[in-house]
Amino acid sequence: MVEQTISRPELMRAWRVHRYGRPSHALSLDKIAIPVPEAGEVRIRTRTAALNFNEVDGCYGRYITINPPVPYTLGMEVVGEVEAVGPGTEQWLGQRVMATAKGAYGGYADRVIADAGMVFKAPPSLDDVAAAGFFFPFHLAWLGLHERGRLQTGETVLVHAGAGGVGSAAIQLAVAAGARVLATAGGPEKVAKCRELGADVAIDYRNEDFAKAVLEATDGLGANLVFDGVGGDVTAQSLRCLAFNGRLMVIGFSGGIEAEDRPIVTPRMLCFGSVSLMGVMLAYTADPRGENPLPGIHIIPRSVGERVQRSLEVLLAEGKIHTVIDNVVSFDALPAALDLMDNRQTTGRTIVVF
Ligand SMILES: NC(=O)c1ccc[n+]([C@@H]2O[C@H](COP(=O)([O-])OP(=O)(O)OC[C@H]3O[C@@H](n4cnc5c(N)ncnc54)[C@H](OP(=O)(O)O)[C@@H]3O)[C@@H](O)[C@H]2O)c1
Repeated sequence: MVEQTISRPELMRAWRVHRYGRPSHALSLDKIAIPVPEAGEVRIRTRTAALNFNEVDGCYGRYITINPPVPYTLGMEVVGEVEAVGPGTEQWLGQRVMATAKGAYGGYADRVIADAGMVFKAPPSLDDVAAAGFFFPFHLAWLGLHERGRLQTGETVLVHAGAGGVGSAAIQLAVAAGARVLATAGGPEKVAKCRELGADVAIDYRNEDFAKAVLEATDGLGANLVFDGVGGDVTAQSLRCLAFNGRLMVIGFSGGIEAEDRPIVTPRMLCFGSVSLMGVMLAYTADPRGENPLPGIHIIPRSVGERVQRSLEVLLAEGKIHTVIDNVVSFDALPAALDLMDNRQTTGRTIVVF
């Protein structure tokens, strides 16, 4: 008799959404097969991952942009070493990288597949924890403030949720650009954090009408650029304190994802306000012309991301920006850490160590 050898797939740990609800209810720890990279992809051996507010919405099943059928592995932002490559990505083998998981999920696992368009070398000056807090917040903040927002020295920027992961990066980048920075946050500790990061004025928008406070702080002129990751009523109120020629940059909806598809701004407000409503999504593609996966959806060419990365590394070397990391947790503690984010109890980034 010929003995057959059946090769079993190698397994890895993964936090997967099995049911919808708060993160500690939604997630279960599974052992699943290690994925194989295809053309244009790399496989990363994960060392650290960052928590992103989108994952809170993912646990509740209300994030319609990224909504794979359950069970699926949550997580988008990772740092690690490229241990396997698909055709066309050989140059990444062995590199220490920061990346977004393919399709923006699959990151909370020992091994992660990423499109090469969303893979960047981790800056050597940052350890694995700091690098995990660097990529997403600073790229997104740079895209919002500079690539899209065209921030000018001397302008006034209003950053909402300024003590959060992305907000804390936006405050620092706006300060580094020579802007006057106003920030909002919920509660005295977060307000203090915004000031520590360089905000000239920090407003507790749980206790205060922030639009009124912004008008008071700007002699009635308003902010030139609003960096808005909260959405909903905060977006609506921001129009009250936007300057002539002002830009309102929509970057997210932590105040309630249902606002994503709620009409909040009317054409009348734009016309009579002489202001612009803008938005930005952090997603890069290796296609040099960018990608248009659906009508009206745009993935930014990677060349832009490389330019952003170079600019950020200069600021990092000059000591003008630093990663803001509030909490470092073990892989096992990931769901409880996401609960804290859901409860609005985090500042800066929370990093998971594998
Ligand atoms: N455009 C893109 O490509 C892109 C990609 C990824 C993420 N995002 C978005 O960027 C934003 C920031 O993400 P992040 O990961 O850095 O999160 P984060 O800012 O660290 O956390 C979210 C913050 O939102 C504020 N918030 C206001 N209302 C809230 C509510 N009802 N429940 C919970 N939090 C509330 C809280 O700060 P206060 O207590 O100070 O209000 C909270 O700390 C999110 O909207 C996220 O979805 C955008």
